[in-house]
Amino acid sequence: MPVSEAAGPGEWGAEIARVLFDEAAIRQRVQELAAAITADYLPCWQQDPRWRLSLVSVLRGAVFFVADLARALRVPAAIDFMAVSAYGDTGRVRILKDLEDDIQDRDVLVVEDIIDTGLTLGYLLSQLRARKPRSLAVATLIDRAGMRLVHDLPVRYTGFEIGNTFVVGYGLDFRERYRNLPFIGVLREEVMDEAPERPRLAHPSEEEFARLLDFYRIRWEYEPRTFVLLEDEAGQVKVGFSPDFYLPDFDLYVELTTKKPHLMNRKLRQVEALRQQYPGVQIELLDRADFEILARKLQARERP
Ligand code: IMP
Ligand code: MG
Repeated sequence: MPVSEAAGPGEWGAEIARVLFDEAAIRQRVQELAAAITADYLPCWQQDPRWRLSLVSVLRGAVFFVADLARALRVPAAIDFMAVSAYGDTGRVRILKDLEDDIQDRDVLVVEDIIDTGLTLGYLLSQLRARKPRSLAVATLIDRAGMRLVHDLPVRYTGFEIGNTFVVGYGLDFRERYRNLPFIGVLREEVMDEAPERPRLAHPSEEEFARLLDFYRIRWEYEPRTFVLLEDEAGQVKVGFSPDFYLPDFDLYVELTTKKPHLMNRKLRQVEALRQQYPGVQIELLDRADFEILARKLQARERP
């Protein structure tokens, strides 16, 4: 289904460069995945008439996929949702909304929209595994396997594999837009290149620091990079750390902290580990009381 090149205002063609998977292709693939899942789990139901598959879906991108997939299954299924933050200042995914149901001894199938680095899913699975499900597997609509940092994920069902293009539609967003497109497509470059939105900051102290930097006209980026601090023998990322701010004019990372001892200690350890493993990287750990001092110091400093 081509999106018209000559699209006018109010038509998707003005923003979407091309359609990768149209409605019919998605419907077809979802049916195939559902058939494979049904075949794999049918014996569980045949052994126990009270059995059901526990679908765990990740908000918000996977909602369309799980809704269509669940309706195409021919085994009983419960649906539950989780919401997680991106791997932020703690180097770990934070659970923003947890499951309603207990998954102990259940057969759990995590339903994802897209797996990119796999960091999000990796953390999510470690959380779920700790709750002792009987089995744990993953179905993802899209897999961008070329970007994977975490490799041993139990991805048993994959809808489509794609390369390194950013895609939108059928649940996937760019800045909370395009989720409701019935197809999966690639955005026009002009749309992707638009001025970056001011990022949503996680804590009031980050807002305060950002306002201060703005006031002193110091350019900043929010959590632009994740440093790998710990890998296991297989080269899997175990701990990542994304400093809160990067000040490009000073080539300086800044991590904010509070006086709370447990937070302070963890952040100190992370900053120390980063300094040791990335000797070329400059990072400062900043207490709230130091915000203004640093901002004024930087403003006075010659930009290299
Ligand atoms: P990961 O931790 O790098 O695997 O992050 C995966 C998450 O990044 C997904 O759940 C999406 O929210 C988002 N994401 C990654 N690639 C795309 C894309 O091409 N379009 C929209 N969202 C994406
Ligand atoms: Mg997203």
